[in-house]
Amino acid sequence: MRKKIVAGNWKMNKTRSEAKKLLAEIDSYIQSHPPKCEVLVGIPFVYLENAKANHKNFGIYSEDISEHKSGAYTGEISAEMLTSIEADGAIIGHSERRQYHHETDEQIGAKVKIALDNGLNPIFCNGEVLEERKAGKHFDVVKKQTETALFGLTADEIKKVVIAYEPVWAIGTGETATPEQAQEIHAFIRSLIAEKYGKDLADSLSILYGGSVKPSNAKEIFSKPDVDGGLIGGAALNIADFSALIDAYAEI
Ligand code: PGA
Repeated sequence: MRKKIVAGNWKMNKTRSEAKKLLAEIDSYIQSHPPKCEVLVGIPFVYLENAKANHKNFGIYSEDISEHKSGAYTGEISAEMLTSIEADGAIIGHSERRQYHHETDEQIGAKVKIALDNGLNPIFCNGEVLEERKAGKHFDVVKKQTETALFGLTADEIKKVVIAYEPVWAIGTGETATPEQAQEIHAFIRSLIAEKYGKDLADSLSILYGGSVKPSNAKEIFSKPDVDGGLIGGAALNIADFSALIDAYAEI
């Protein structure tokens, strides 16, 4: 059975004291309600080291990583640095990185590779923008993003990647893909992986859905056969919503 995952993506939110509080709340919730899924949070770089030192019951991920090993890249954070503070992994290629920092599929592929080379678990994000969806190009867009970034990996490498399909038009907008839309494209992504790496490997990969997942729609989305959890922004910022999303797996 493949891993089911509820992943938070805090983005650029929370001061130090707010971050400490929410991490402690997540930890105590997990201890009192053992989850039926893996739980992890992507948090701002500045909080990673403390978070990792204080919380062992859920994954602590960065929200980005540099594609370079080290050197003159002002402001960047390397895979080696993340490994040295024992971060568990990194969210890579989020649509906000693609949009505001012009990250390309090639760069994103290099980030996934360097994460893997350093023992970090990558969550690779893909997804189309609204115009592409309206023009019926979403399958082509997701195919190109996935093939360019991931298909240079060996089978042993890609096995360790989690994919997060996040239609850009559904992120932070309150718009959600219908469970059927999510299932359709998740199955498509899995079929791409199966063509290249074989069905067994494709069946073992977790593919998360992201884009306005909230307690009221999570169970329906997570119940779809090719949806293995969620990458969650807004609803990961408070314990009431985030714990309800973790609980969605208790009910499936
Ligand atoms: P959202 O963000 O849940 O706020 O739509 C999801 C994401 O960007 O990962």
